[in-house]
Amino acid sequence: MDGPRTPGSRPVPVGEDRHGRRPVCLDFDADAHLVVLGDAGAGKSTLLCAVVAGVERVYAPGEAVFLLVDPRHGLLDVASSSRVLSWVRARREVHDVVRDVRALMDRRLPGPDVTPPQRRDRSWWRGPELFVVVDDYRMLAPHQQVNPLLPLVDLLPHGRDVGLHLVIARELDGSTPRALAHDPLLAGVCDQGGPAVIMSGSPEVGPLLGGVVPSAQPPGQGVLVHPAEGSRPLAVTPPAARP
Ligand SMILES: Nc1ncnc2c1ncn2[C@@H]1O[C@H](COP(=O)(O)OP(=O)(O)OP(=O)(O)O)[C@@H](O)[C@H]1O
Ligand SMILES: [Mg+2]
Repeated sequence: MDGPRTPGSRPVPVGEDRHGRRPVCLDFDADAHLVVLGDAGAGKSTLLCAVVAGVERVYAPGEAVFLLVDPRHGLLDVASSSRVLSWVRARREVHDVVRDVRALMDRRLPGPDVTPPQRRDRSWWRGPELFVVVDDYRMLAPHQQVNPLLPLVDLLPHGRDVGLHLVIARELDGSTPRALAHDPLLAGVCDQGGPAVIMSGSPEVGPLLGGVVPSAQPPGQGVLVHPAEGSRPLAVTPPAARP
């Protein structure tokens, strides 16, 4: 897993601002993780594929690899990429690869001998950033006793330091507010203050991240919410539609 790393901002294009027709990008160097919420058919899997394709465009080979956790094969379009280390569907398989990820990331955690300059430029380890892309999270982990991703929870605050990114999509329904507050993985991602995309959903669900109340949206459209930067409309560009 050795390879060069380029510190600094690498904005990843995923779509357009519906009003201004300006590109909308995600900056995983600034915010390590991303949550995607939406009804069935809202365009969640397509957005995850757009993230994978966008990272591939922006990060040089050797700078980023992917682990796809994909219970319903929604990420098929990007699964054959040479940068996908594993494409896992069954909970048992997820458990095994997560154990390997945990071991790798433990080796990247800074020890007491890491100097302040090394911390600043993250030069105490070398290798690609690892994007763990999880689709259909509720199906994978209907309750915590069977959640194969739990070993990653305490790494979430160290995502930028160790080059670990969790990009996670969950169905949007009445149980979502509670999951965002109490599911260790979702709450752990939200606690980092990063962005979320809220796609089509029922207003009855009530206010979610950033106080955004979901509404009915065409497939692929939603709101990009950032606790510090506010919210803006997002129309996802499906990877197949990119020139
Ligand atoms: N950005 C987009 N632009 C246009 N059409 C889109 C876009 N994203 C998704 N769609 C359409 O919506 C359909 C559903 O998309 P997708 O499978 O990504 O949704 P999903 O939220 O993952 O659905 P599910 O809940 O069933 O997993 C796709 O077949 C596609 O036709
Ligand atoms: Mg899907």
